[in-house]
Amino acid sequence: MTDSPAPAPLISTTALVTGASSGIGEATARHLASLGADVALVARRRDRIDALAAELGDAGRRAMVIVADVTDRSQAEAAVQRTVDELGRLDTLVNNAGVMLLGPVADAPVEEWEQMVHVNLLGLLYCAKAALPHLLEAAGTGDRRTADLVNVSSVAGRTVRLGSGVYNATKHAVGAFSESLRQEVTQRHVRVGLVEPGAVATELAGHNRPEVQESMRKRFADMERLEATDIAEAIGYMVTRPRRMAVNEILIRPTEQDQ
Ligand SMILES: NC(=O)c1ccc[n+]([C@@H]2O[C@H](COP(=O)([O-])OP(=O)(O)OC[C@H]3O[C@@H](n4cnc5c(N)ncnc54)[C@H](OP(=O)(O)O)[C@@H]3O)[C@@H](O)[C@H]2O)c1
Repeated sequence: MTDSPAPAPLISTTALVTGASSGIGEATARHLASLGADVALVARRRDRIDALAAELGDAGRRAMVIVADVTDRSQAEAAVQRTVDELGRLDTLVNNAGVMLLGPVADAPVEEWEQMVHVNLLGLLYCAKAALPHLLEAAGTGDRRTADLVNVSSVAGRTVRLGSGVYNATKHAVGAFSESLRQEVTQRHVRVGLVEPGAVATELAGHNRPEVQESMRKRFADMERLEATDIAEAIGYMVTRPRRMAVNEILIRPTEQDQ
């Protein structure tokens, strides 16, 4: 006699993933859907999230396209509200949207700093605030009696490097906020988890000025970087633990990355 397969652990749950149009967010949305979740896909590039929603729909999942700029508070709030209105609940928020614009402080266009603060920090805060009542509701009354808020930080949220000043500042802020919020809601079984990837092969570096891209290419030339699916699987691990277990923080570097 063969055992029947275990049911998908996130069946009957809903996840919202910001920055689902590429890289880690896209891989995470796909992975959470494979674990049974219905997913709300949030990003600015409609064509990308339309294509992902069609793929997930073909695989039998409900996937919702939400075109939104998370730096606009009303759009971030509306993204959460639409998810709950149309998918019925919110069990998991993956705050992943981010930009990384590096280079020395003295040469930096201040607009790059503003963009990082707006996306990496304010966008994440807007989504967290809007999602929190729904996560508390899911943790209080849902079948699993727990809910998850996962913030995607970076190794840059733990260690500081020359040429990463403002990116470091935004990601350290994400770490500080996550820990304070964790303490606030953990006894109500909303688990706040922080994910800190090292170098992952995505589009992230491609938004930098050419001279910055060149120095990054040199730094990572001989290194096998992580794949977006590596981080997606770590997030999947965090949000499928038993109710008694909260994975507060995961730092994942490529094996060859020394700092
Ligand atoms: N790749 C790495 O080495 C690495 C390492 C450590 C941490 N991380 C972190 O991982 C996260 C994901 O990055 P990634 O590597 O997957 O890069 P990516 O492929 O460039 O993805 C970034 C995502 O953020 C979205 N985004 C950017 N600005 C947005 C806005 N204003 N509103 C809504 N969505 C926005 C983008 O979508 P649209 O452009 O379609 O809006 C895209 O889906 C970031 O927080 C990054 O800091 C990455």
